[in-house]
Amino acid sequence: MKVTVVGAGAVGASCAEYIAIKNFASEVVLVDIKPKFAEGKAMDLMQTASLNGFDTQIIGSTNDYSKTAGSDIAVITSGIPRKPGMTREELIGINAGIVQSVAKEVVNTSPNVILIIVSNPMDTMTYLVHRTTELPKNKIIGMGGALDSARFKYRLAEALQCPSSDIDGMVIGGHSDKGMVPLTRLATRNSVRVSEFLSEERLERVLEDTKVGGATLTSMLGTSAWYAPGAAVSALVQSIACNQRKVFPCSSFLDGEYDLYDLCLGVPVILGKNGIEEIIQINLTDQEIDQLRSSAEGVKATNSLLKN
Ligand code: LAC
Repeated sequence: MKVTVVGAGAVGASCAEYIAIKNFASEVVLVDIKPKFAEGKAMDLMQTASLNGFDTQIIGSTNDYSKTAGSDIAVITSGIPRKPGMTREELIGINAGIVQSVAKEVVNTSPNVILIIVSNPMDTMTYLVHRTTELPKNKIIGMGGALDSARFKYRLAEALQCPSSDIDGMVIGGHSDKGMVPLTRLATRNSVRVSEFLSEERLERVLEDTKVGGATLTSMLGTSAWYAPGAAVSALVQSIACNQRKVFPCSSFLDGEYDLYDLCLGVPVILGKNGIEEIIQINLTDQEIDQLRSSAEGVKATNSLLKN
């Protein structure tokens, strides 16, 4: 199992670290455009191998994609992250060109690759990759919902004063402050609906805190977060690499699912050895459907900027 991670910044490096620590991949190739940067990160990470007990070989490459040849999975984190006060959508001008050229390079050297897109605005970048590569739609996956769901569980655990591992919950829709649709109705604490424990007002606060999860951290850190994004990507990579067939909300190309067409949006999918094995169509309430539709409209408005 060979995994490429393009972009050796904080998210890419943390993703490589989690993949290595979980010890399921034989090789991780970190790629960056900054000379020697990916090589340095790879060396630093490899010096943790004896301490953390992993056998994964991590190598770095300065923009030489021949080293990524034959990758089973590639993660694209390239581009610039948010600064405090910025929306993810504002990054489109710079990141679109970068993501498009990186995706082409990766697919050229690894034609059977499964791509995971992390760069923002993520749903639009995932759609761009869908439009500009020959890969089938099951092999183009946007990572946002797994992260937003982890943040949702964190906020629920905080409200319930319990460990996050006791919580089950999912955020679908776009990976944006306005577009996220946390499915509060279906969230549970060990099979008991969270609404049995929390007032409507408290749940509303959980919802709002979840939606601005990325922005909150960006304002605290001065740049966007990396531990939870890296861990979320590594969970998707593991489900594919080990054919675990776990369910995650992922940005997927929709062609009629949820009555939505021609966009990539976060919906629950089964992730296995073929990438997206199945898009799960759950029964949503009218209100949830309305929220998903308006989320889709927001993503489509951002997609329309790609033409410029
Ligand atoms: C975040 C970035 C990765 O939400 O979109 O932290």
